[in-house]
Amino acid sequence: MVKKGIILAGGSGTRLSPLTKAVNKQLLPINDKPLIFYPLSILMLANIKDILIIVNPKQIENFKNLLGDGRRFGIKIQYKIQSKPKGLPDAFNLGKNFIKKDNVALILGDNFFYGQSLTAKLEKSLTHKNGSRIFLKKVKRPENYGVAVIKNNRIEKLIEKPKKFISNYAITGLYFFDNNVIRYTKTLKPSKRGELEIIDLLKIYKKNYKLSFEHIGRGAVWSDAGKIDDMTNISSFVQSVEKVQDIKIACLEEIALYKKWIDKKQILKNIKFYGNCDYSNYLKKI
Ligand code: TTP
Repeated sequence: MVKKGIILAGGSGTRLSPLTKAVNKQLLPINDKPLIFYPLSILMLANIKDILIIVNPKQIENFKNLLGDGRRFGIKIQYKIQSKPKGLPDAFNLGKNFIKKDNVALILGDNFFYGQSLTAKLEKSLTHKNGSRIFLKKVKRPENYGVAVIKNNRIEKLIEKPKKFISNYAITGLYFFDNNVIRYTKTLKPSKRGELEIIDLLKIYKKNYKLSFEHIGRGAVWSDAGKIDDMTNISSFVQSVEKVQDIKIACLEEIALYKKWIDKKQILKNIKFYGNCDYSNYLKKI
């Protein structure tokens, strides 16, 4: 079982500048919540309670003010500073003392997932003991993503930002890895852009016939929030769903209460913590 998860919430957020000059991307709003609530809710829905958040040196206090040690949500959150963005697999260099001998999930702090079939797919992936498992989603512009070529229900090839069309299955920012990930990461060399690349890590698993995948079907939504258009699109999507259905997406307390990780007393404490706001009103209802 995968019981540990890492959220990568560092990075420079260059494409969102000037928004990200003073505030980390993961702390920017998606409708009524900071972006990081969404990937964190995905780990919680996958029953992962032991979480490491990787952050930039200047912003660690902001994350701590918002999420603390996770007790408010019945989980355990630790933080690790990444001195500069060295690429996504750096999560496993920085996280090796957290991971220890276990398997681990990785989610990018700017990734948004939503859909009914998702939880079942997550739960299935959790029981995956060997190898790596990735989530693929059909996209309109595969040239902007790392993509997987699927043949006979297997991954045949992995290509970073293909210039010519080869597949429209993008590799999303949610990954499950066995413990070899620490060892494999050590063998990676920085790419031309000077970063360790997650696709190189996945290629090692593929070479060893240990890379499997799950499709995020058309009933579910995935987007990263790298550009301002993505931020506004996700934000309006969340706003519409929340309004029409009278629910909240990524209400961390609601997930924790449902899973019996916290009780009503804790919810009342959290309402006090947030103060008089729409989010608190929702907590009162649940
Ligand atoms: P990216 O979107 O690739 O990078 P970025 O957030 O720095 O943005 P930009 O390209 O506009 O400069 O990162 C994906 C996610 O991973 C994002 O949530 C930040 C995080 N990240 C880290 O925490 N450390 C890293 O070394 C990198 C490359 C990304």
